[in-house]
Amino acid sequence: MARIAVVGCGHVGLVAAGAFASLGHDVLAIDIDADRVRMVREGRSPIYEPGLEELLQRALEAGRLTVHEGFPASLDSEFVFLAVGTPASTGGASDLRAVRDAVSSLVPALHPDAVIVNKSTVPIGTGNIIAQIAKRAGADSVSVVSNPEFLQEGTAVHNFLEPDRIVLGSDDPGATARVAALYERVDAPILETDLRTAEMIKYASNAFLATKVSFINEMASICEAVGADISVVAEGMGQDARIGSQFLRAGIGWGGSCFPKDVAALEHTASTFGAHPQLLRAVIEINREQRRRILQKARAVLGTLESRRIVVLGAAFKPNTDDIRESPALEVADLLRLGGASVVVHDPHVPTSVIQREFPSLEVERDLLAAAAGADAIVLATEWPEFRDAPWSEMAAAMRTPLLLDGRNFLDGQQLRDAGFTYRGIGRPAQEGPAADATTDEAELAQGLVMVGRE
Ligand SMILES: NC(=O)c1ccc[n+]([C@@H]2O[C@H](COP(=O)([O-])OP(=O)(O)OC[C@H]3O[C@@H](n4cnc5c(N)ncnc54)[C@H](O)[C@@H]3O)[C@@H](O)[C@H]2O)c1
Repeated sequence: MARIAVVGCGHVGLVAAGAFASLGHDVLAIDIDADRVRMVREGRSPIYEPGLEELLQRALEAGRLTVHEGFPASLDSEFVFLAVGTPASTGGASDLRAVRDAVSSLVPALHPDAVIVNKSTVPIGTGNIIAQIAKRAGADSVSVVSNPEFLQEGTAVHNFLEPDRIVLGSDDPGATARVAALYERVDAPILETDLRTAEMIKYASNAFLATKVSFINEMASICEAVGADISVVAEGMGQDARIGSQFLRAGIGWGGSCFPKDVAALEHTASTFGAHPQLLRAVIEINREQRRRILQKARAVLGTLESRRIVVLGAAFKPNTDDIRESPALEVADLLRLGGASVVVHDPHVPTSVIQREFPSLEVERDLLAAAAGADAIVLATEWPEFRDAPWSEMAAAMRTPLLLDGRNFLDGQQLRDAGFTYRGIGRPAQEGPAADATTDEAELAQGLVMVGRE
């Protein structure tokens, strides 16, 4: 069993620390945030992630996890995993300050045989920069391995321990083999590659998933125009094994701590190196447009947003996390506010203070019925399972205009209509029946088809 240090006690670092401890390794978790360190030491997870707190508690009780604020004077760890944040900076470039700072701080303490393993998502070439920084700081022969992380918030522990694949990239095969051995008890294929290819695999994977979502959203807009139902279209597409059903749900688009910054960073890197990432630009633009579509739908029914009270259900960027970074829900809420509406946000798990720290102009209401009272519309923006069983009839009765805009195509439209709502989804017919929303005159369409047939 190995001695591992994990730098950064965020989503990735804590899951990695707890999971490596559960695999039998001795783990030292390091962070510069004193509050986080204190909480983890007490066996409390600073983030909402199913199963994580229990994992950390078990690791602490087994004596396999210790937590340190800042960098110790000497590290006896054979592996140092970097899991610090790499947020976007202006222009889309990745802000690598935390990575640089962490490497500069840890190198003086580094064990002579230690391998630096990077789990942070970084622009292609950063692994080589890490090696240079380490070298300048005196660690001449340190090896760097890129081990990108593919976990999803909400299922992170499971994703870490049962991944689809483990990617290890390095220019030192010996270091790769040593890192691979850490995952001996994880049943997953290991793809060994060079540093840059591993870094690119992470970006390409996130960009592809974001593209899939933007693709289905574009199809949803076409469905609305022609009177088809995107939910059924996606089902039909997803049954094709070459396509797959995941990430094919139309809605208000992607967000979160990874996709927006990673797609922007890849676009930025590509442009810097003289490539022309046209598809990535379209993927980003379609995503922006999806947020605006909710405003169009609200205006289509309410006429104006001025002086309307609109409830946004959800603040987290997706269910089963309390992460609000780049949350589509809060972006929609803020756009509605800028459009003149007074906006009330309700989320079953994100604390009010977290929402109001980022969006002080948004009202937050923890009681669903109180939020709905006198409202002109509800926008379902995060598909928390709790919302399926909301007291819809009572909420509709309490509203001034019972309009429900389902930004995630999550609810049963008929059930909502029965509860008294005017229901609108994304890319779905407004009423039952596939062609009810179509604007095309059928005779015109038929004539067009005949004309095409004659050409
Ligand atoms: N969150 C995800 O779902 C996810 C998934 C895959 C990959 N990633 C990538 O993993 C990396 C980490 O993401 P995250 O969501 O865990 O970030 P996070 O912001 O939740 O956590 C980062 C942690 O690093 C700490 N930190 C910052 N600078 C430090 C330093 N110099 N020394 C020690 N600790 C420091 C912070 O205090 C914080 O606790 C990012 O590059 C991200 O893109 C994230």
